Amino acid sequence: MVMSEQVRKMMMVQEMAERGEYPPSRYILKDAHQSPADAPPQAPPVPIVHLGHPDEDQQIKSALQSWGMFQVIDCGMTASFLDELRDVTKAFFDLPMEEKQKYSTFKSGKFHYQGYGNDEVATDDQILDWTDRLYLTVQPEDMKNLELWPENPSSFRDVLNEFTTKTREMLDSVLKAMAKSLQLNEDCFISQFGDRPVLDARFNNYPCCQRPDLVNGVKPHSDSSALTIILPDKDVEGLQVMKDGVWVNVTTSPHALIVNMGDQMEIMSNGIFKSPVHRVVTNTDKDRISVAMFYTPEGEVEIGPADALVNDMRPRMYKNVKLKDYLEIFWPRFLQGKMSIDLVKV
Ligand code: SIN
Ligand code: FE2
Repeated sequence: MVMSEQVRKMMMVQEMAERGEYPPSRYILKDAHQSPADAPPQAPPVPIVHLGHPDEDQQIKSALQSWGMFQVIDCGMTASFLDELRDVTKAFFDLPMEEKQKYSTFKSGKFHYQGYGNDEVATDDQILDWTDRLYLTVQPEDMKNLELWPENPSSFRDVLNEFTTKTREMLDSVLKAMAKSLQLNEDCFISQFGDRPVLDARFNNYPCCQRPDLVNGVKPHSDSSALTIILPDKDVEGLQVMKDGVWVNVTTSPHALIVNMGDQMEIMSNGIFKSPVHRVVTNTDKDRISVAMFYTPEGEVEIGPADALVNDMRPRMYKNVKLKDYLEIFWPRFLQGKMSIDLVKV
């Protein structure tokens, strides 16, 4: 039987961690390719892209073909603003459990993806991730559910609104730069997003864990979005990416944002830009926080490989797909630890 609302409420990871509990069996990995505790090989920091730099095209192409992600230091947000975003995230997770539960993903006994909680528990054999989160749609405006936006800390909403505006500006310029790096019209990717693209914010908390060797903070996955922006924790590592067949730590400068390719971008670029498989690992003594923003085309719009990227040398690799249909395939598979991009290959 799938966990009831009540059991689910009792299973906030933060509470288990605070009580020093050993992870319950539902969190324990059965087999892991390279255990989360194995020290990853030394890897260089994620490549830096200087937006607007004369070498921008080369930097983007090389980062996206080797890593599927890059870091942006001049992201249009000050270091103090990014620290404030981290501070409000931490302050939210530090609130008493009762207050956080006001924003629960469960309403009237039903799971909703927006709110405070963790992944939906869809099947009995699903292995759960050692994380709690707050998930909020921030654009378009009429999809915001302000009832789920924390009132504490008092600056939370303003900081999130500012982060949304700045992220959106940055993402649109990144999409143009990515198109130009392939000698395409700069609107080639943006034009596929429709009139009402969606931005979702996810505030992540990965409490420390008695057995980091046996659990995932987030299981290996590629993102379903087109692009994801990640503000990692300033002090605690944990994000890893699969590079050339091995997990490597994602390290960045403390005030950089990571731009990560999602499956939608792999489709639109006809496979030139790969959406990398990544995961989050935990550790025994430090909680980790991060903030992610997911940028996705409007659900009803069909996206597909850009015409200019399909030719005799590079035949079409992916079918056209509506985001809403892709998400229906993606989520149940994600919960089972399976990737989905191959299912839309031609
Ligand atoms: C994720 O990819 O789901 C989370 C990224 C992070 O916490 O760094
Ligand atoms: Fe991700």
